[in-house]
Amino acid sequence: MLLSSRVLDICGGVVLWLLLRSSLTLGVESDINCLKSIKHSLEDTYGYLNSSWNFNNNTEGYICRFTGVECWHPDENKVLNIRLSDMGLKGPFPQGIANCTSITGLDLSNNKLFGPIPINISHIAGFVTTLDLSSNNFSGPIPANLSNCSYLNVLKLDHNRFTGQIPPELALLSRLKQFSVSSNLLTGPVPNFNASVTKAESYANNLGLCGGPLDACVSSQKNSRTVIIVASAVGGATVAALAVGVGLAFFFRRVSVRKKEEDPEGNKWARSLKGTKGIKAS
Ligand SMILES: *[C@@H]1O[C@H](CO)[C@@H](O)[C@H](O)[C@H]1NC(C)=O
Ligand SMILES: *[C@@H]1O[C@H](CO)[C@@H](O)[C@H](O)[C@H]1NC(C)=O
Ligand SMILES: *[C@@H]1O[C@H](CO)[C@@H](O)[C@H](O)[C@H]1NC(C)=O
Ligand SMILES: *[C@@H]1O[C@H](CO)[C@@H](O)[C@H](O)[C@H]1NC(C)=O
Ligand SMILES: *[C@@H]1O[C@H](CO)[C@@H](O)[C@H](O)[C@H]1NC(C)=O
Ligand SMILES: *[C@@H]1O[C@H](CO)[C@@H](O)[C@H](O)[C@H]1NC(C)=O
Ligand SMILES: *[C@@H]1O[C@H](CO)[C@@H](O)[C@H](O)[C@H]1NC(C)=O
Ligand SMILES: *[C@@H]1O[C@H](CO)[C@@H](O)[C@H](O)[C@H]1NC(C)=O
Repeated sequence: MLLSSRVLDICGGVVLWLLLRSSLTLGVESDINCLKSIKHSLEDTYGYLNSSWNFNNNTEGYICRFTGVECWHPDENKVLNIRLSDMGLKGPFPQGIANCTSITGLDLSNNKLFGPIPINISHIAGFVTTLDLSSNNFSGPIPANLSNCSYLNVLKLDHNRFTGQIPPELALLSRLKQFSVSSNLLTGPVPNFNASVTKAESYANNLGLCGGPLDACVSSQKNSRTVIIVASAVGGATVAALAVGVGLAFFFRRVSVRKKEEDPEGNKWARSLKGTKGIKAS
């Protein structure tokens, strides 16, 4: 009795272990593909990845010893964070990160990365709590899709060449504690974040941001209304002045015309009067 239950326990344990093992292996495959793809897509100016990211060693957890890679467990090839700050990396945003399915932090700051943030970023790194892309050469709009990376605590996009408006949807990131887009080429109103999330420095050195901790936005409608009011006032005055001018001119012209017309007639009349007078007098 005791022995057979013991055997069952062991069998169950082995089955569970095998199941875990196979799911782990799937995770391993995916995360290794992720790092291979990142290495492949980036130009490694100083050879940091080249010297450290060696995929020929197949011991369990070997990727966890790669420069900038942190795993959930040191002996399990499952990536928790990737930190590749200041490594002279050049290239577009590495989309292969989508295969690091359990990643919670991505720091690519201080490199020479360029091009847009992928529009489907929430499918590529949807569970990150930290995304630091600061001090690169990223460009294009900041995608509204970042608002679907709903675990974000830290979002740093400063010192790039992002253009357009900051998507108002980012205010939906309810866990956000740190947000910076300073030194970009952004314009328009800033998202309606909770007051503690952003300070004026978060937005400094852009083309024309307003609202939040910055100067209030002058709505373009109000602006154009002012313009219309001023224009119509000026226009009105001009029209009035013109009207008065035309009126006066017409009046004087009428008067002078009438005078000119009256004079000969008056002369005639006077002459005739004179004549009649003369006739009468004579
Ligand atoms: C990569 O590293 C190997 C030695 O590990 C070296 O022979 C090779 O030149 C390096 N390649 C680059 C592009 O740095
Ligand atoms: C593989 O990695 C392990 C752990 O880092 C190390 O001890 C071993 O020397 C490596 N083997 C090779 C062939 O690089
Ligand atoms: C993820 O890895 C698979 C191979 O396992 C590959 O076909 C796919 O393109 C990779 N996804 C991305 C976004 O790189
Ligand atoms: C994201 O979109 C690009 C095309 O813009 C596509 O190649 C890639 O497979 C997409 N990635 C995911 C994870 O959906
Ligand atoms: C950044 O990108 C722009 C083009 O978008 C390019 O002119 C400039 O040289 C790049 N700067 C760096 C430091 O790579
Ligand atoms: C972000 O992209 C995903 C996948 O493409 C999509 O399902 C989601 O609706 C997008 N969200 C926004 C706010 O664009
Ligand atoms: C993505 O974000 C939008 C708001 O920006 C929200 O309406 C939508 O439900 C989100 N989608 C997912 C899959 O979280
Ligand atoms: C803003 O702060 C209030 C209270 O501090 C909190 O209840 C609310 O969820 C926050 N909203 C967002 C979008 O962070």
